[in-house]
Amino acid sequence: MTTATTTTTTTEPAVRAARQIHPPEDLYAAELAFLAGYDRGPRPPAWRLTPRAVVTFVMGSGDPLELPEPVDGLPRSLTIGAKFVGERALVERCVVTLAGERGLLLVGEPGTAKSMLSELLAAAVCGTSGLTVQGTAGTTEDQLKYGWNYALLLAQGPSRGALVPSPVLTAMTTGGVARIEEVTRCLPEVQDALVSLLSERRIAVPELAGGPDAQVHAAPGFTLIATANLRDRGVSEMSAALKRRFNFETVGPIGDHDAEIALVRRQAKAAVERTGTAYAVDDTVLEVLVTAFRDLRTGRSAEGWEIERPSTVLSTAEAVSVASSLALAAAYFPGDRDVLSLLPGHLLGVAKKDDPADAARLLSYWDAAVRRRAEHGSATWRTLWDLRGVLEG
Ligand SMILES: Nc1ncnc2c1ncn2[C@@H]1O[C@H](COP(=O)(O)OP(=O)(O)OP(=O)(O)O)[C@@H](O)[C@H]1O
Ligand SMILES: [Mg+2]
Repeated sequence: MTTATTTTTTTEPAVRAARQIHPPEDLYAAELAFLAGYDRGPRPPAWRLTPRAVVTFVMGSGDPLELPEPVDGLPRSLTIGAKFVGERALVERCVVTLAGERGLLLVGEPGTAKSMLSELLAAAVCGTSGLTVQGTAGTTEDQLKYGWNYALLLAQGPSRGALVPSPVLTAMTTGGVARIEEVTRCLPEVQDALVSLLSERRIAVPELAGGPDAQVHAAPGFTLIATANLRDRGVSEMSAALKRRFNFETVGPIGDHDAEIALVRRQAKAAVERTGTAYAVDDTVLEVLVTAFRDLRTGRSAEGWEIERPSTVLSTAEAVSVASSLALAAAYFPGDRDVLSLLPGHLLGVAKKDDPADAARLLSYWDAAVRRRAEHGSATWRTLWDLRGVLEG
């Protein structure tokens, strides 16, 4: 028997093969297996976990979970790591939507973890986050339904064997969860293909008319998670008919300052550890980084000062990538320069993405909030104030 009695935390990737990113079903395979054994309650059709266990997987368990009795191949106790930082009630609503086999649409500002949440939910519910269609202006109906293997089609004529299922069709036949990223980027006529698919729960294959495969029916459990970005330009409005077939959930920026710092730290650390070097970024640097991002995102500082917002969204995802860059700079160029001195340059890079005038907005943030904090005696903010010249270049 391989049952361990120690409490384990799975912060380390379960798989160490040469891949840049591991999908959640691989990265958290140990947690998913444990949760399947831990919560033996009733599950919706084709679900790998109970709805409660799915929520625990996404939000983390806090304390270690103990198996009531040993199960072969599973540790006796495991702490499920927190992944999505946000409202538990939102995740519960998402899970209930999926349990009811309704489509789920996650909308929100860029970089609020909509894609991450959809991947985590799909991995927990059906064991794969890979049944995905990336919505673009060039997405075709075939990519949502099916295509053909032309060599087989020419050799054998239309047959089920020559049919190449889309990820959506595969999810339908297996009772899984298909993900459609950036659904509003698809042209309206392509989006319309989803309307009939979500109401009739079957796809007609006219090429196979007369045979048993003329209709492909959705197996129990099949559902869709779509994501849409509120800021994207050049998007196609969703039709009322399609909207009606989805439950909408708005994913907002992280509300809690400390939770955002903890997330940024965790992810910057993971980015450095992937390279095999040591993480060495002071918490005071992360504190000012996250504070600056939050001030510029919300247009108001913690002290209540008004701040002019750049038109670019300073999302948590951007904060994570700046923190990761700082952590990598500290790891690869140790002792060269104070990490804090790199922050204004990175902030400028993020703020200027949309509108060149955002550089001036960042400068006015420096002249207002950064200066006031420096005057109040904070050494870190004083250093940042002294670096104002970087933003003028
Ligand atoms: N609430 C959050 N919980 C956990 N991670 C978060 C959160 N918000 C942002 N992140 C971080 O942001 C990263 C990017 O998120 P993701 O790509 O899923 O965002 P998105 O909302 O899909 O963005 P876009 O609209 O640009 O597609 C995540 O991998 C994570 O590092
Ligand atoms: Mg996304």
